[in-house]
Amino acid sequence: MEPTTFVLFGATGDLAKRKIYPALYNLFLDQKLPQHFSLIGLGRRELTDEDFRANIEKSLQDFSRRNVQDSAQLERFLQAFGYNVLNIGNKEDYQVLHQRIEQREQELNLRPNRMFYLSVGPEFFETIAANIMGSGLGSADGWKRLVIEKPFGSDLQTARDLNEKLSQAFTEEEIYRIDHYLGKPMVQNLEALQQVNPVFRALWTNRYIANVQITASETVGVEERAGYYDHVGALRDMFQNHMLQLLMMTAIHVPQKSASEKVHQKKKLVMEALETLSKQDVHAHVVRGQYTAGSIQDKSVVGYVEEPGIPQESRNETFVAARLKIDDYFWRGVPIYIRTGKRMREKSTRIVIEFKEPLKQSTSKADAAAPNLLIFEISPNEGISLQLNTRDPQHRGEFKPIYINLHENQDNIAEAYENLIHDALNGDPTFFAHWDEVELSWAWVQPILEAFEENLVPLYTYEAGSFGPAESDALLAEDGFHWWFDA
Ligand code: BG6
Repeated sequence: MEPTTFVLFGATGDLAKRKIYPALYNLFLDQKLPQHFSLIGLGRRELTDEDFRANIEKSLQDFSRRNVQDSAQLERFLQAFGYNVLNIGNKEDYQVLHQRIEQREQELNLRPNRMFYLSVGPEFFETIAANIMGSGLGSADGWKRLVIEKPFGSDLQTARDLNEKLSQAFTEEEIYRIDHYLGKPMVQNLEALQQVNPVFRALWTNRYIANVQITASETVGVEERAGYYDHVGALRDMFQNHMLQLLMMTAIHVPQKSASEKVHQKKKLVMEALETLSKQDVHAHVVRGQYTAGSIQDKSVVGYVEEPGIPQESRNETFVAARLKIDDYFWRGVPIYIRTGKRMREKSTRIVIEFKEPLKQSTSKADAAAPNLLIFEISPNEGISLQLNTRDPQHRGEFKPIYINLHENQDNIAEAYENLIHDALNGDPTFFAHWDEVELSWAWVQPILEAFEENLVPLYTYEAGSFGPAESDALLAEDGFHWWFDA
């Protein structure tokens, strides 16, 4: 891996502490960081390099999946870290930063490859990108990359405006948009499974698949993020990004080991083939919900509008379910159901592929057989299972479902941020969101955003600890299906 200077904006923030430092430390333990690596943390707070390193050590103790045991090893890791005070809007601070980076690159004899990681609010992206270019930080002789995370805009227009601004400083190839769901090992596996298993590839069509169900349910409520969440809601927070990325990763057809451009191209094709909804149609295909008081794992919880910081009259959605259709050769006629919500019964992200039951019409005995299901468990557990039917030895002539379960050893598996940071350092954009995908996703949700805003869609309630509003079940029932595993 090429020598790299990792320039981290927001180095004293929560994401850095919880995710970025632990990810870097685990990459270091696995010898997956560049041999010549240096990180300059930036923040408003006055800190010495020593204070900064002590903070990082603390974050590793609190959040790293592997314990810090060897102090000499830790010392070696921390040597790479330095800190500079930086006020995002102050051009002189970028000059000071530039000097420090150059000095360090010279000391360590590093090629000036620089990765700018913006772990700050999106309102700062534009200013930082402009100042990186204005200060000369971005015009050295090596490569430069910009890593940013959602929210990427708050609707189609704001996303386009932001992209336009960023592209004045960085090319598309230099921008790595993190969607942390794309870093989850099982999500990355979806593409590989098709490539290397002709069995899956052969089945991946409307000839065999009856419907697809993608669920990301959470038990948490708004946590300490009332101010953010009440403006964003489940549609912008989860659906436009994570859920549509899961859809793309499920629906793409990638026949061989493909270059990242190919994967992005195929994902784009999926989004282009998604049937668009008109504002007036939204109510027929999309259910929005908000949780009321209830109980989760025997603990009582308050309703959304009673949460601290949420206005009593808030009509923000904490749940969305939708029926989507991909109008292409492979998926025409296969409904795709997607749902996500807070304060639901369980924390679970999974994809269920339900297969057709051609026997149902031809033999009455097969009526009792359950459909074949292929289930991808994404988190918190990882695994793949296949539901098949076998003859029931106790009841002659009847069938019973059996499961083939393939569960990886869950211990100490690399976290999403490790995979993503490693790929960004390596210059592999496969599992980052390309602008085309982001733009097409916003374009698809735009009529839904408008229908919600104009109240063209009812806001249903659901009890905390349930699987969402009853109307979400009705969405599938209309097509003769039901959500699997809501028990
Ligand atoms: C984030 C959302 O992007 O994803 C949060 O902003 C949500 O609201 C989180 O809780 C869920 O991520 P995970 O990895 O826990 O499923």
